[in-house]
Amino acid sequence: MANILVLYYSRGGHTALISDAIAKQILANGDQCDVMSIHESKQHPIDWSKYHAVALGACVLYGSYHKSVFEFVQQYQQALANIPNSFFCVNVVARNPEKRIPENNKYLQKFLTLSAWQPQDVKIIAGKVDYPSWPWYDSLMIRLIMKMTDGPTDPTAIIDYTDWEDVKAYGDHITQLAQVEFS
Ligand SMILES: Cc1cc2nc3c(=O)[nH]c(=O)nc-3n(C[C@H](O)[C@H](O)[C@H](O)COP(=O)(O)O)c2cc1C
Repeated sequence: MANILVLYYSRGGHTALISDAIAKQILANGDQCDVMSIHESKQHPIDWSKYHAVALGACVLYGSYHKSVFEFVQQYQQALANIPNSFFCVNVVARNPEKRIPENNKYLQKFLTLSAWQPQDVKIIAGKVDYPSWPWYDSLMIRLIMKMTDGPTDPTAIIDYTDWEDVKAYGDHITQLAQVEFS
C-alpha cells in the first residue's frame, strides 16, 4: 500500500474541497493518503520519508499564487522532487476546456516559470465562482475581469466549474504515479 500526501493552498475553501476529493479517490483505490494545507504544514512539519508520492495544489489569485506557495516549494523543492510529484492548479479561466491544456494556461506557465520546484506532472482544474461569499472588492474586480472575458457577472452567481469526475480521474492518476515508487 502506498502512502500519498496531498498538499494545498486554498483561500476560499474550494481547492481544499478538491484536495479532499482527490484524497477520497486515493483511499478508495486502497492506498493511504494525508491531506494538509501549506499553512497546517508549518505547525506540523511533514515527515517526507513516509510518502511515496505527493500532489500539491493551489488556487490562482489575481493572475498568480499566494506567496506562501512559492516559499513552500522553495523550501521543500528537494523533498518534492525526491518522490513522484504533481502540481494541480485551480482557476476559473479553466472553465474553458482549451485552458485546461497546460500549454494554453498562462497561470500554469507562470507557476513553472517562478517555482523553484519543477513538477514532473501537472494538472489544471476549473474552480468556482462565488461572488456572494467573496469580499465586495474581490467580487467587483473579478466581475470586471469576467465582463471582459464573457464570463458570469451577476453578483449573486455561485457557479462550480469543477468537473468532479475528472478530479476522481486525477486521484486515480496520482495512485498510479505512486505505484512507480512503491513497486
Ligand atoms: C481574489 C480572487 C482572485 C482571483 N483571480 C483569478 C484569476 O486571476 N484568474 C482565474 O482564472 N481565477 C481567479 N480567481 C478564481 C479562483 O482561482 C477560483 O475561485 C478558485 O476556485 C478559488 O479557490 P479557493 O476557494 O480554494 O480559494 C480568483 C478568485 C478570487 C477570490
